[in-house]
Amino acid sequence: MKFFLDTAKIEEIRRAKELGVLDGVTTNPSHVAATGKTFRQVVDEILTELQEEPVSLEVVATDKEGIVKEARELARLAPNVVVKVPTIVEGVKAMKVLSQEGVKINATLCFSSLQALLVAKAGATYVSPFVGRLDAIGHEGMGIVEEIRQIYDNYDFSTEILVAAVRHPQHVLEAALIGADVITLRLETLEQLFQHPLTDVGLERFLKDWQKVPQ
Ligand code: E4P
Repeated sequence: MKFFLDTAKIEEIRRAKELGVLDGVTTNPSHVAATGKTFRQVVDEILTELQEEPVSLEVVATDKEGIVKEARELARLAPNVVVKVPTIVEGVKAMKVLSQEGVKINATLCFSSLQALLVAKAGATYVSPFVGRLDAIGHEGMGIVEEIRQIYDNYDFSTEILVAAVRHPQHVLEAALIGADVITLRLETLEQLFQHPLTDVGLERFLKDWQKVPQ
């Protein structure tokens, strides 16, 4: 399972990279706004830091022609750019054109398994079901991920399932058990995965006992 970091903040990306488990980054307009920097600045920083790993950058156009134009410009920035396109009618039309040109697409704002079926047919590289936002309205987000896994396996779609809007480590565990290909996390959640109180207690005891060993 690949771990992407869900942020546009370069300091967070550097910290995650140091942890040794970072496989890519997903940004969105809200993440970019939170940096206080221009889109161009943010993109330059990230693409300098990550030259191999997939970096998702989102379009803001909402019509097919506009999405295609913006996506081509973003894709030209670097070979590891993945263009995030919203899962709307115009977005799916654009995905079809772009995927045929070899542009890598992340179908974002996916909230149903049927939307996921459509974007796979349109050639998306990744589909992003937003599990935490579904949970927040009383709909079990991970149920959608399970359905998407089954549909993609039934028809051998190569679109990767990228679990998004993740809120806690339990989401990571459930996504891994289902067999999601990728999960995108906030730095805080990624760091939580490393923690267990018994590891800390155990280490403390080992180090204490080590002091009793004749040197
Ligand atoms: C994914 O690519 C999105 O950027 C992200 O997971 C959105 O999640 P949020 O609900 O935390 O904003």
